[in-house]
Amino acid sequence: MKITVVGAGNVGATCADVLAYREIANEVILVDIKEGVAEGKALDIWQKAPINLYDTRTVGVTNDYSKTAGSDVVVITSGLPRKPGMSRDDLIGTNAGIVKSVTEQIVKYSPETIIVVVSNPLDVMTYQAHTTSKFPRSRVIGMAGILDTARYRAFLAEELNVSVKDIQAVLMGGHGDTMVPLPRYTTVGGIPVTELIEPAKLNAIIERTKVGGGELVKLMGTSAWYAPGSAAAQMVEAIVRNQRRVFPVCINLEGEYGINNCYLGVPVILGKNGVEKVIELDLNKEEKELLATSREHVKEVMDVLDRLNK
Ligand code: NAI
Ligand code: 2OP
Repeated sequence: MKITVVGAGNVGATCADVLAYREIANEVILVDIKEGVAEGKALDIWQKAPINLYDTRTVGVTNDYSKTAGSDVVVITSGLPRKPGMSRDDLIGTNAGIVKSVTEQIVKYSPETIIVVVSNPLDVMTYQAHTTSKFPRSRVIGMAGILDTARYRAFLAEELNVSVKDIQAVLMGGHGDTMVPLPRYTTVGGIPVTELIEPAKLNAIIERTKVGGGELVKLMGTSAWYAPGSAAAQMVEAIVRNQRRVFPVCINLEGEYGINNCYLGVPVILGKNGVEKVIELDLNKEEKELLATSREHVKEVMDVLDRLNK
């Protein structure tokens, strides 16, 4: 299996590292526009192999997409990250052009690949990659739900003082402050979370999750990378190993949840063909309203992209 990661910055390099040390692919190509950065980071990851004992070859290139030819999965992380005070949506002007040009190169050299978008604003960059590639929607998906759910699960594990391994959760909607955590579908070792935690505490965790990305931007002056890079690698793993994992991922909705032509996080089955199935939950009134608000927000940013692309 051959995987390309575009963008050798914080998230891209972390993703390539996880793909390598977990031997998720035989070959990982790291691409960046900055001369030498991808080459250097790929060489560093490869030189870690004799220490950590893995055989994945990592190769870096500066903008040479011919080296990415025939990739099974391509992860797009290229683009600006947030700085304090910025929302993800503020990145659209720069990142839309980057994601468009990168996608054109990917399609040229790997017409059968599956694209996992990470660049922000996530839902709308997935839209950009989907329309540029003209691939079926099952092969152009965005990573956000695994990260947002991981934050939620980590906070819950801390509060309940239990293993993160026993916390199962799903989150829907856009990758932003309007995301929709679903406590009704959150369990701890099979027990509904609502039986283990008071409503006020659960609510505080949900609110912290919604602004979880911003919390890290405030602390570090740029956005997170360890959890995002690992989350993207986990999506790649589900695809290349045909694991049929159930994850929340961003995809164009075609009637599911009564929504058409909007890129939102929803639970799916992820396997060798990308999204094998979109899972439709029977949402209650309040959950439907939250999803509708999230949809409206993502639609507004999609409209901004449409105007930029005119
Ligand atoms: P970074 O600044 O560390 O890395 C971005 C890299 O992209 C840089 O090395 C830059 O040279 C490269 N790049 C820019 N234009 C390029 C082009 N045309 N072709 C190839 N490479 C190009 O940023 P970081 O922290 O890695 O974040 C990357 C993106 O991922 C940002 O847009 C960030 O907001 C987003 N992100 C999304 C998350 C999600 O949950 N979906 C989570 C974390 C970050
Ligand atoms: C995050 O949630 C910035 O989207 C990025 O960390």
